[in-house]
Amino acid sequence: MCGIVGYIGEQQASPILMEGLHQLEYRGYDSAGIALASRGELKVFKSKGKVRNLERLLTAQPEGTLGIAHTRWATHGEPSDRNAHPHCDTQNRYAIVHNGIVENAAALRAQLESKGVVFRSETDSEVIAHLIAAMQAHSLADAVRATLRLIVGTYGLAVIDAQRPDSIVVARNGSPVILGIGEREMFVASDVSALVRHTQQVVHLNDGDVAVVRADGYETFTLDGGPISRAPLAIDWQFESLTKGDFSHFMRKEIAEQPEAIRRVLSGRLETRFSTTHLGGLELAARELLEAKRVKILGCGSAYIAGCVGAQLIEQLARIPAHAEPASEFRYRNPVIEADTLYIAVSQSGETFDTLSAVQEVKRKGARVFGIINSVGSTIARECGRGIYLHAGPEVAVVSTKTFTSTAVAFALFAIYLGRLRDLSAANGARLLNALSALPAQVEAILAQEDRIASIATAFAKTRDAYFVGRAAGYPVAMEGALKLKEVSYVHAEAYPASELKHGPLALIAPDTPTLVVLPRDDLFAKNVSTIEEIRARRGPTYVVTHPQPLPVAVDGVIEVPKSEPEFDPILLNIPLQLLAYHTALARGTDIDQPRNLAKSVTVE
Ligand code: AGP
Repeated sequence: MCGIVGYIGEQQASPILMEGLHQLEYRGYDSAGIALASRGELKVFKSKGKVRNLERLLTAQPEGTLGIAHTRWATHGEPSDRNAHPHCDTQNRYAIVHNGIVENAAALRAQLESKGVVFRSETDSEVIAHLIAAMQAHSLADAVRATLRLIVGTYGLAVIDAQRPDSIVVARNGSPVILGIGEREMFVASDVSALVRHTQQVVHLNDGDVAVVRADGYETFTLDGGPISRAPLAIDWQFESLTKGDFSHFMRKEIAEQPEAIRRVLSGRLETRFSTTHLGGLELAARELLEAKRVKILGCGSAYIAGCVGAQLIEQLARIPAHAEPASEFRYRNPVIEADTLYIAVSQSGETFDTLSAVQEVKRKGARVFGIINSVGSTIARECGRGIYLHAGPEVAVVSTKTFTSTAVAFALFAIYLGRLRDLSAANGARLLNALSALPAQVEAILAQEDRIASIATAFAKTRDAYFVGRAAGYPVAMEGALKLKEVSYVHAEAYPASELKHGPLALIAPDTPTLVVLPRDDLFAKNVSTIEEIRARRGPTYVVTHPQPLPVAVDGVIEVPKSEPEFDPILLNIPLQLLAYHTALARGTDIDQPRNLAKSVTVE
């Protein structure tokens, strides 16, 4: 997803901006660019492809203590040098970088072209630069505000004026913009990761905010120019966690961080005296929770699948109906939103546009919603205003691993809390708290089996298609396993409820198509074994993730994980599938941390 970074201060801006662009690479992009204001002029460099291509253009470090830069994720106009940002007006006085979509760009472009403006790109964003120039306003902020009142669409925007190099004007509507507070210098970015090397003090802008950022501070306004205040907050992690350390990939590092991530999401939340959990950020009185007749969980991608695990935990432990739905589908189907339904929004980045819009829809219709979020201070977290932070630290690899696991554990904490408000006994509560405390060591034990998992991955690396099947609690594990394999190895992987195979997918089982069966030792074990026999009868290679005990059927490969309480087995059964995807991708030589066509946080719809 597009990334913006800006600097104003006493230092030379270009090295700071280039380093910022490197920190934004993980968001996913296809081209990059930088603009610096110096001696009343703009110096603009843009390049298709990786940030290192842009670096090659900056052999002689361009001068300037004011600049903006951008990584682009193409929406309008193919990835190319001329479609890369920054975009400038005809006089090359103003430079803009934009994250979002200008929905009425075509109409605005036609108006500007009818006045003789010549466009240099196919992008929607370029209209912003020309409109600002056309405003001839008293200040840059006035010109930007007047322009934005004409724009229909979403934006995270940064603008500089070469002839008034004393500020960066930024604005937000739908795409994140964050200010970083330094000593006699200021930073702007789409993402904390581009700021954390320089400051721990950041200001998150809200939709409709415009900020004037000078070296000595910032002012925030509404789109109409009314002053507003936006207080800084502290980042709860250090720059070092944005480095790979001894690992060759962030994905592998974040898989290894799971035991610690679980300890962090559990920390201070196990209330052993009452065999329940303590969730300080929930800010929902027990009475409000008891009024809830059902729970609806909203998220996208892996966040949605973690929601499926959460829904099963809430039904099992709190005995009220719970269901997870992709937020993108929810918001567009004009859902029936009832006041006695409790909504939970799940998001690692806290910036996913579809999930944010679903939360706004739920709030607009007066229902209660809280968030299970990793990024502190993110937009969805602020929109929900209450919830459970994962504190898993930054997740850099596009594919989520540790935040999936931490989210499932956060759901376990919430399900126990709700269950203990209802009929879950203290004995059961204690049983579950013990099981949660045992998870970090159990995950360590699974990670120790990496070689075995890597050897099984060779079978998946050779194939074009693969299937993942599971029943009941095993099905979301199959879904997440298939998603991980798709994302990082580009193998076409499908997940099915095991019982659905006979209703169609069985036709695709063949000797060159491996199937991974999620096979917990539970009351559906025998049924899953017959599924394995169905597949093997069609000579389909079969691999299982299961618990330590001899198998009553022959398979091509076995991964064993420690047994937890049945409610939490899905959390452990999922871990080896992360390593399976990682080693399959390693064998296929794909770009593991930045898979093609994918972004870490999807801030446009
Ligand atoms: C998961 O590996 C993907 N990165 C993607 O499906 C992700 O889960 C989805 O985009 C939601 O992101 P969020 O948790 O930041 O909202």
